[in-house]
Amino acid sequence: MSAVTSPQIVPAVPPVRVALLGCGVVGSQVARLLSEQADDLAARVGAPVELVGVAVRRLGLKRDVDLPAELFTTDAEALVSRDDVDVVVEVVGGIEPARSLILSALRHGASVVSANKALLAEDGATLFAAAEAAGRDLYYEAAVAGAIPILRPLRESLAGDQVTRVIGIVNGTTNFILDRMDTSGTGFTEALEEAQQLGYAEADPTADVEGFDAAAKAAILASLAFHTRVTAADVHREGIAEVSAADVASAREMGCVVKLLAICALEHGPDGPAVSARVHPAMIPRSHPLASVREAYNAVFVESRAAGQLMFYGPGAGGAPTASAVLGDLVTVARNRLAEVSGAGESAYAGLPVLPMGATQTRYHVQVDVDDKPGVLASVAHAFAERNVSIQTVRQEGRGDDAQLVVVSHTASDADLAATVESLRSMPNVRDVSSVMRVEGVDG
Ligand code: HSE
Repeated sequence: MSAVTSPQIVPAVPPVRVALLGCGVVGSQVARLLSEQADDLAARVGAPVELVGVAVRRLGLKRDVDLPAELFTTDAEALVSRDDVDVVVEVVGGIEPARSLILSALRHGASVVSANKALLAEDGATLFAAAEAAGRDLYYEAAVAGAIPILRPLRESLAGDQVTRVIGIVNGTTNFILDRMDTSGTGFTEALEEAQQLGYAEADPTADVEGFDAAAKAAILASLAFHTRVTAADVHREGIAEVSAADVASAREMGCVVKLLAICALEHGPDGPAVSARVHPAMIPRSHPLASVREAYNAVFVESRAAGQLMFYGPGAGGAPTASAVLGDLVTVARNRLAEVSGAGESAYAGLPVLPMGATQTRYHVQVDVDDKPGVLASVAHAFAERNVSIQTVRQEGRGDDAQLVVVSHTASDADLAATVESLRSMPNVRDVSSVMRVEGVDG
C-alpha cells in the first residue's frame, strides 16, 4: 500500500529494474519498502521501480519480508550480468564477492547502490573508475552513519564551500558502551556485555570495539570532505577496549565525556595543505553538540569556512534506517537512468597528502600518580617543556601517597605529546601514568 493517499501519477513508462544482493537485516527492509512504497517511488522516479531478483547465500530461509520464491537466486553473478537489470543494490558487505559483483554489474551496464563501507574504504578508487568507464552511478549514502544524510551534504550541498573538519560519532555500538560507562560508572567489560545482551554489539565485537568500522567510515568522510583519496589504511585507529572507568571518571571531573571519534581535518602539512584522518577515544566538553549523542545514535559534526558548524544526527544502523538511505540513493540513481545521465562521480582532484598520526595536531589529558613532594610538579612541567608542549591547565588531586597531577596540554604534534608521556613514565617521582586521552572540541 502507498504511504501517500492522494491520487498518484504513475507514469506509463517501462520500469527501472532492480537486482538486490543480500536479503538480511538491511536487504529485507529495502525489499519491503520497494513493495510498500511502490506508488510513491514510481511517482518520484518517473517510472515504476521493479525488483527483478534477489541474490542470497541460501534459499528457503525465513526472511523479514514476503517475496515470491522465484525472485530468489544463489547465483549472484548471473543476476548482476542480466542485461535487463538497471540498478544493482549491494547490501551483502565485505570485500569479496561484493567487489567482483559490483564491477561486473557496472561492466554489464547497471548503476550501483551500495552500503559497503569496508569495500569503499579499501578499494573505492577501483569501483569509481569502473563506474566512470561505464558511465554509470555508484552511490553509497548508507555506508556511513546509517539513515543520516551526510555523504550527499558533503558531496553536493557543501560543494561550494571549504570543509575544514569533520568529527563523527559513527559507530553506535561503541557509543552505547561509552554512554553506559559514563552514566552508570561501569567498566568496559560490563558495558560490552550489556550491549551484547541488548543486541547492540555482535558476539565478536572486534570490528566495532577496535575501531575498524569507524575507520572505514572516516576514510569515506575524509575522501569526500577534502576531495582526496583516503583509504582505511591511511586512518590512524585506536579502539575503546583500553578506556577505563577511571578515564571516564576523570573526563567527568573535567566537565567532559569520552566518545569514540572519527576526526578528519584539513591541516598545515610540512609542504602545504594536508589531511589527517583518525579514530580514537577522546574527551569532549559536555557543552559540545556531540556530547549529547547518547546510546547507539550517531552524529557527524562538520565545520566549513562559509557555513560554519553543522551537525547531522540520527540512527546509524538498523534495517529500516539503513534501507531509508539505500532507497534515497536508489531514487536518485533511477532518475539518472531515465534521464540518461550519471551523477557526480569521485572527486579526488585535490590529491592532498595524508599526514601520519605523529604529525597531526592534538591535545592530551594526562593523569599521573606522583610523590607529593617539592619539585615534582616542576619536573612534570619540565617533561612537557622539553618537548615544546605548552600546558593549558594543571591541578592536583589528593595528597601524600594518593596524589595525582592532572595536566591538559595545549595543541601540539601527537608525536611530541606521546614522547612527553613516555618520559613521564620513566621519571622517578611518577608512580604511574594512570590516564592518557586526547581532548577534542575545545580551542587551544
Ligand atoms: N556496527 C555499526 C555500529 C553499524 O555499531 O554502528 C554498521 O556500520
